[in-house]
Amino acid sequence: MRVFVTGMAGFIGMHAARRLAQLGHAVAGCDSYNNYYNPALKRARAAELAKLGVMIEPFNLCDGAALKEALDRFRPTHILHLAAQAGVRYAREVPLSYIESNITGWVQLLELCKERNVRMVYASSSSVYGLSQQVPFSEEDSALKPANLYAATKRSKELIGFSYHHLYQMPMVGLRFFTVYGPWGRPDMAYYKFTKALLEEQPLTIFGDGSMQRDFTYIDDIVDGIVAALQLNVSWEILNLGGSHPYSVLELLAALEKLTGKRGLVRSEPVSSDEVKTTWADLTRSHQLLDYRPKISLEEGLGSFVDWYQERQRLETLSGEDSPIDRLSVPGNR
Ligand SMILES: NC(=O)c1ccc[n+]([C@@H]2O[C@H](COP(=O)([O-])OP(=O)(O)OC[C@H]3O[C@@H](n4cnc5c(N)ncnc54)[C@H](O)[C@@H]3O)[C@@H](O)[C@H]2O)c1
Repeated sequence: MRVFVTGMAGFIGMHAARRLAQLGHAVAGCDSYNNYYNPALKRARAAELAKLGVMIEPFNLCDGAALKEALDRFRPTHILHLAAQAGVRYAREVPLSYIESNITGWVQLLELCKERNVRMVYASSSSVYGLSQQVPFSEEDSALKPANLYAATKRSKELIGFSYHHLYQMPMVGLRFFTVYGPWGRPDMAYYKFTKALLEEQPLTIFGDGSMQRDFTYIDDIVDGIVAALQLNVSWEILNLGGSHPYSVLELLAALEKLTGKRGLVRSEPVSSDEVKTTWADLTRSHQLLDYRPKISLEEGLGSFVDWYQERQRLETLSGEDSPIDRLSVPGNR
């Protein structure tokens, strides 16, 4: 395969690109290096990829000329579209960034791919299930009650994708990721914030009584699913990729307390209506089509994350970096 990855300096982008390169596929990609969270982390991921000879071109998907030039030059057989404005609460603060990256950027990419012979795999999200009460979440659900703008743009992305598939017969697989975590992860997510707060013995925030549940999915399991989806010979699909086991925020915290040997200084804040009570993936379809079976337990996966986090801190201290990757305040909490 010749895979062009959008959002390649992102958390999932880096891991997917690394695996694809290790498997011997040709990989190229782009990233806007936006400052939703500290771009120093994105640059550090890019440096990891550069060790494998994989280079990231720094441009925004909405820059049609740059995107066209990159696609003409690389001539991909597959697109892995991961670039997006992520985060749930941040959508209240900067709503138009979601429209730009998740809608305009997507249409720009589809326009430039519609007459190329490419297979498209793109990132959707468990957020599309929104206020649905039917758990575990199945792809059969109509997913028409998004609880926030992020979810609404992700569902719109699926619908826009369908129209391009219908009009131009572009083969397309949408992947609904469920709370992905692991080394090189995103500093705006709860597991990252909790780890940082525990190790620094700082207060951490829990929303409501901590009973909110997420179906956590380790990054290597997600990458297994992505690689299988790129090789799937179908014309149109939407598939869940989750861990298939919801854990509460309190269970997440307890696991991290055990791993760090620290006790959390917990502050409580009211639950916001942006957040849904639970997420839980029905994996029947992804198991059938991708042979997808998540293998890494939450405890094992968090252990790898905490090891990575501590090693990063050590390297940053040694190099005297003045802008360590998680020192800047980051918005959102997902
Ligand atoms: N991490 C999760 O738990 C999770 C869950 C569900 C869905 N997703 C989806 O998976 C994808 C990857 O997520 P991630 O966790 O790696 O997030 P991330 O923020 O680490 O990666 C996204 C990357 O896209 C880049 N980007 C954003 N807008 C861009 C644009 N217009 N042009 C070019 N680059 C742009 C960002 O700079 C960033 O590096 C996203 O589509 C996200 O919505 C992630």
